[in-house]
Parts: sequence; C-alpha cells; structure tokens
Amino acid sequence: MSVGTVSNVLNRPDLVAPDTRRRVLDTIDDLGFVRNESARQLRAGRSRTIGLVVLDVSNPFFTDIAHGVETAATANGSVIMLCNSGQAVEREARYLDVLEEQRVQGVLITPVGTDYSRLDVLVKRGTPVVLVDRGTELPNLCSVAVDDVLGGFVAASHLLERGHQRIAFAGGPLALRQVQDRHLGAVKALTDAGQKASDLQIFETTSLTLEAGRRAGEQILDVPEARRPTAVFCANDLMALGVLQAVVSHGLRVPGDVAIVGYDDIDYAAAASVPLSSVRQPRELIGRTATELLLDEIREGTSHQHRRVIFKPELAIRASSDRRRSSRGRARVARRTRPAD
Ligand code: RIB
Repeated sequence: MSVGTVSNVLNRPDLVAPDTRRRVLDTIDDLGFVRNESARQLRAGRSRTIGLVVLDVSNPFFTDIAHGVETAATANGSVIMLCNSGQAVEREARYLDVLEEQRVQGVLITPVGTDYSRLDVLVKRGTPVVLVDRGTELPNLCSVAVDDVLGGFVAASHLLERGHQRIAFAGGPLALRQVQDRHLGAVKALTDAGQKASDLQIFETTSLTLEAGRRAGEQILDVPEARRPTAVFCANDLMALGVLQAVVSHGLRVPGDVAIVGYDDIDYAAAASVPLSSVRQPRELIGRTATELLLDEIREGTSHQHRRVIFKPELAIRASSDRRRSSRGRARVARRTRPAD
C-alpha cells in the first residue's frame, strides 16, 4: 500500500476505489493510527480551521450565526473554532493572535470596535478576514450584515404608525456600530414624522443582555407617567426580553401600557410570554454567506474581489406592539404595583 494511497484515503477519499478505501481504513483501525494535525499543518502550512469571533456567545443571535458558518464550513471539509470576545477589545486581540498562530484558514468576526488595524495586519500576513453582522466600506475586507439603519427606521416607524408619541430607544453601547445604526434609523423615522430627534428618549446600556434590558426597563418605568415612554425599541431581542420582564413584573401591560419591539427575531422572541415584535435578521444565511465569501477568498487569493453583502431587514409584528393607541394617545393608566418583596 503506497503512502500516496493512504494519504488520499485520509484527504481525498473520492479519489480512492471503495474496496481499497475500506482496506486502508481497516488497517488504520487495527494500528490505532490517529493523524497528527500539527504535522499535517506544518506540511500544508495551513490548518483546516476557520476562526469565528463573536461578541457574546450566550446570545442566540450568534448561535444561529455559528450554525450557518458550520454548515458552509463542514461542506468544505473545514471545522470552526468559536471565540467569545465578550465585547472586550483585549480579549478580541488575544483571540486574533491565537488564531493567527494556529494558522487558521481565515477569520470571521463581529468586531468589538471600529479600529480594524489588527484585522488589516492579519490580512496582510495572509489570513483572510470577513466581517459578520457589520457592514464596512473598507476595500480589503468582505462583510455581511443587515441594513441596520433601515432596521431601526422600520421599527420606529411601526411604533409611530401605532400611534406612539413617546418612544424610547434602549441598548448600547452607542459606540457599537450596529447599535449606532439602529438608533440612527429610529431617529430618522421620528424626524421624517415631524418629531424632533431629541424626542427619542435614549436609555443607553453597556451591553446588550437580558440583565441590561431589565435595568433599562426599570429606568423607563421610573420616568414620571406624564413623560414615560409608551413604546420601547430595543437594540436586540435579549434587551427586549429584559424590558418585557421589567414591565410585566411591575403589573403593567404589554402592549397596552408599554409596547416593545426587539431586533434579531431569535426563536425566543416569538416564544416570549408576550410574543415579541422584532426586526428579523437572516442569521443562518448571514453565517453561511460570510463563510462562503471567506472560502472564495481562500481559493481565489489575490484575484478575489471583496464584496459587501447587505440584507434587507423585515419587521415581524407580534402581540408586544400590535395595538393601536387611543387617538388621545393616553396610556391606559394602570397603577404600578410592585410585587410584594
Ligand atoms: O452584534 C451586536 C448585536 O447585533 C448583537 O447583540 C446581536 O443581537 C445583533 O443584533
């Protein structure tokens, strides 16, 4: 049995006749042979791994993105290494160093900030990078995202159309490009409707988690009733679920007292105690598309034409906002009763 045949069985099984393949695999089993990936990497110069760096591994949005990445990566014979930056620049940088040292085929990343200098170095040193959930005008990076400005515009327009005059935006940090764009779109909806940009009450948070949503919900409920927002557009669904929890736990009704719209349309949005309206992001498609762009760049090398893929957001209207407010625009007053401690 030649070394070439054994190598083909391991790396290009489609080139080997089935009975030969079977004999080689039986021999491998009998010998207890396990390939040495590091040695293979040394010879090939590259691993068969794609690095995926996400902001928050506990957010189902990124789980769905990872599913899409995995589908496209495994179809190509690659595996993924999932890294969680936790929205921390230092952790992100550390993961990028490790991924480069591991000679990954390429990196898919939702960046913490908008300083892409470290990514530029990665690309210059031969590791292709594709931005996920982030659009960019940069010439040397592909990117896949949803039009977040339009997403924010659609969400706020829906609330205005349902008769809400006092609308809040909850999420942050506003420095995060996705949050910034969603906020920008919401402001545009208000100004297009003749309101002032400052009419959008902002409840900025340091993260986009359930707990941050609960805290923002508490702050919103602490606003004196005359000024209290009657609707909240949240920068993502985890925030929206947190606001929902805060409102309901204070005995107020959604949407009757406070309407809520989220962003991402994760599975838990429709499954919430009051099904959440949400701006849908095609999460698995984003993951698959970003991976296919990366694999194209790996195959095409310097002849690759970088692409900026922007998907159109869609609003899924559900019970949490699907109620027209009375023409007087008054909230149905409900005594705010704190549950017994
Ligand atoms: O990537 C930042 C946010 O955008 C994530 O929290 C996710 O929910 C997406 O909507």
